[in-house]
Amino acid sequence: MPDLEPRTGELLAGGAAPAASPHPLARDARRRWWRSAVIYQIYIRSFADGNGDGVGDIAGIRSRLGYLASLGIDALWINPWYPSPMKDAGYDVADLRGIDPRFGTLAEATAMIAEAHELGLRVLLDLVPNHLSSEHPWFQAALAAGHGSEERARFIFRPGRGTDGSEPPNDWQSTFGGPAWTRVTEPDGVPGDWYLHLFAPEQPDLDWSSPDVRAEFERTMRFWFDRGVDGFRIDVAHGLAKANGLPDVGSLTWPPTPGDPVEHPHWDLDGVHEIYRGWRALADSYADPRVFVAEAWVIGRPERLARYVRADELHTAFNFDFLFTPWLAADLRSTIDDAIAAHEAVGAAPTWVLSNHDVAREVSRYARPQGVRRLRHLSDLLDLPADFHLGMRRARAAALLMLALPGSAYVYQGEELGLPEVEDIPDELLRDPTWEQSGRKDRGRDGARVPLPWSGEQPPYGFSPAGATAAPWLPQPGSWRELSVEAQTGRVRSMLELYRAALRIRRRNPALGDGRLSWLPSPDGVLSFAREPHFTCIVNLGADPVPVPPASRMLLCSGALTSAAELPSDTAIWLER
Ligand code: NOJ
Repeated sequence: MPDLEPRTGELLAGGAAPAASPHPLARDARRRWWRSAVIYQIYIRSFADGNGDGVGDIAGIRSRLGYLASLGIDALWINPWYPSPMKDAGYDVADLRGIDPRFGTLAEATAMIAEAHELGLRVLLDLVPNHLSSEHPWFQAALAAGHGSEERARFIFRPGRGTDGSEPPNDWQSTFGGPAWTRVTEPDGVPGDWYLHLFAPEQPDLDWSSPDVRAEFERTMRFWFDRGVDGFRIDVAHGLAKANGLPDVGSLTWPPTPGDPVEHPHWDLDGVHEIYRGWRALADSYADPRVFVAEAWVIGRPERLARYVRADELHTAFNFDFLFTPWLAADLRSTIDDAIAAHEAVGAAPTWVLSNHDVAREVSRYARPQGVRRLRHLSDLLDLPADFHLGMRRARAAALLMLALPGSAYVYQGEELGLPEVEDIPDELLRDPTWEQSGRKDRGRDGARVPLPWSGEQPPYGFSPAGATAAPWLPQPGSWRELSVEAQTGRVRSMLELYRAALRIRRRNPALGDGRLSWLPSPDGVLSFAREPHFTCIVNLGADPVPVPPASRMLLCSGALTSAAELPSDTAIWLER
């Protein structure tokens, strides 16, 4: 377990050798750290730009590791940084074991992992097993090799329907819009087979019944584990298995409407679990076990999600139900209860997620009327009235709720700054494939991916270094001056200082992280729960202020108490009893 040994410091920036002392990660080597961890998501192209080309990179991450360590998080998850034509922002991987030159080099990546470890931060990467880039040598070889070849057996090629094969093999739709099949021109120049892509046409799906595919991903995991990586977030973890015969979807929707059968021909099939059992054995073969988090969109079915985190499968799974639950006390309480119960049944710890690079940021979701419809993408928000002041109040309270719940939590970069969704990126600058594939109807996810503001009065707000040759790859709003790390640092009521305080408390309070929760009696519209020893969290989602229990000491509050020392609406408080 090389990454847990005391180090000589040869990879530290500046090269200074520290005095011999226990390695920062050694203290939790034998703990199941992932059950309590706060994991910070780095969307690399928007985090920090070290070389001034307007795109975030590894040099940028290295320059901000100190910021991340002092924020009080435990681990980083870095979105794909592999060589890629960037048709889907790096989720179209052309080389599973390399680094895209826009982000840096393998040597820089290895140094960054070591530096993060020195600071006590674990590092998770993104593994994208459902598909490759159409530029990957395997797909290029499959195109060249033609119908029925071994090269094509790694992907899902099928003849079309209709007398001349001009209809797609079935009715499956791409997640980004349009058919999930594209027809190829065969090496002899005639139209031939179709290949499946559940996402963009440049992301051909792999066939997980192929031994080549299985071997390639095992090799890839070992490659990164051997470079010190602590685990992987598994992209589209619910999509790797496809039903035999690729039957039509028909009228089935995903996620299924409550009461409908769960069976879907390409989501959440039983076949995925056997793959993960193999991966778990691989991860456990390391002396310091490596971990996985599943990105499995099985919304509204916590018991199905829990199947991914059974003892011999993945360690954790994103709990997207929490993210989608409206800011309503009864709904949140049942989401929390259901997640905890489903995870407890399989001995796993739940995770809590408020946002990521695929959904509209929570300040903007909470700014809208709650419970009207599921608020996922910007397109779900645009026609609803917005009160951003209210959205921010709720996002602050939600942060304290999330960080007090049992299990681990994810913080998406910029969440700690209270960044809103950018709702007015000009059409011609939109880069998410959803925009074009939906026939320019769905503005996609770019609004949650705008480069971070670090400092200064105007764009690029310290995202790129002085003298940068290019503007940030997406434009930053003028109002972000007040939301930069610099502007919020030391400002008592800023979101950043709230996160810093909450994470500081969470790290040293034995009641927080993994463990149990017990609900306390509370009026309608209020969530109140205890964590032992001596910790209480109260979240007021009702209209009226509520009293704070006497004989308790306030640890942290997401807003000011009323003049009568009561907890106002849309505010959360942490107490020591
Ligand atoms: C989920 C990723 O988070 C998303 O950004 C990507 O577009 C799809 N998977 C396809 O890889």
